[in-house]
Amino acid sequence: MPIQRKLIMAGNWKLFKTGPEGAAFVKELAACLGAVEGLDVVVAPPFTSLHQVAEACKGTAVTAAAQDVFWEEKGAFTGEVAPHMVRDAGAAWAIIGHSERRQYFGETDESVAKKARAVVDAGLAPIVCVGELENERESGLTEQVLKRQVTEGLSRMSAEEVAALAIAYEPVWAIGTGRTATPQVAQEACAYIRGLVAERFGSQVAERVRILYGGSVKADNASELMSQADIDGGLVGGASLEVESFAGIIEHSRP
Ligand code: 13P
Repeated sequence: MPIQRKLIMAGNWKLFKTGPEGAAFVKELAACLGAVEGLDVVVAPPFTSLHQVAEACKGTAVTAAAQDVFWEEKGAFTGEVAPHMVRDAGAAWAIIGHSERRQYFGETDESVAKKARAVVDAGLAPIVCVGELENERESGLTEQVLKRQVTEGLSRMSAEEVAALAIAYEPVWAIGTGRTATPQVAQEACAYIRGLVAERFGSQVAERVRILYGGSVKADNASELMSQADIDGGLVGGASLEVESFAGIIEHSRP
């Protein structure tokens, strides 16, 4: 019997929503969704909104994630936030290695590995993001890029830890562009990533790790994407900012 992996539908709010706005969103979303089974619903607000959003999540099916963390617990690191601090603020997850962090803030595979390690050490679940640039895909380098990002990004994790985390495949050319990867392209990349996990950590770990697709996910393409064999959920940007569209995506993804 193949393992039934629980889907994750995560909204990455990026640089949007104050605490009160985020809390109001969660209450409205929870009321709209009712009981949610077989699916983890996650929202990732900016750090300053995390506590208020996590408070609003209590007693609902929604949990909160940080959009990033630093790998040290404390020290002279102006502007940084540690994993135990976001846990204290109420986060259960942390997104690591988003392409916008890689592109604008100097994130590397090495820093992704350190952050993923620190997130697990703090008792949180990482969502580790990978994905190729448009020119890398056009040059036939997609697999090479994914292999490097997955291998190096997970290099500090044990097999058991990898089984419990999530990997988000977000092709950079599909993020915020409306150019969603076709279900076939997304499935192929997610299957490749699962194969990489199998090679390095064994097939049982690969069966359990959850692999999400992100990049212009909308209510009208969610169902086909989420029904692919190796896609276990979504990481949603723009369409997670309005209750109606995020709830629509969740409705279309329910198992
Ligand atoms: P969009 O859904 O806006 O394309 O963003 C995807 C993303 O970057 C989620 O992390």
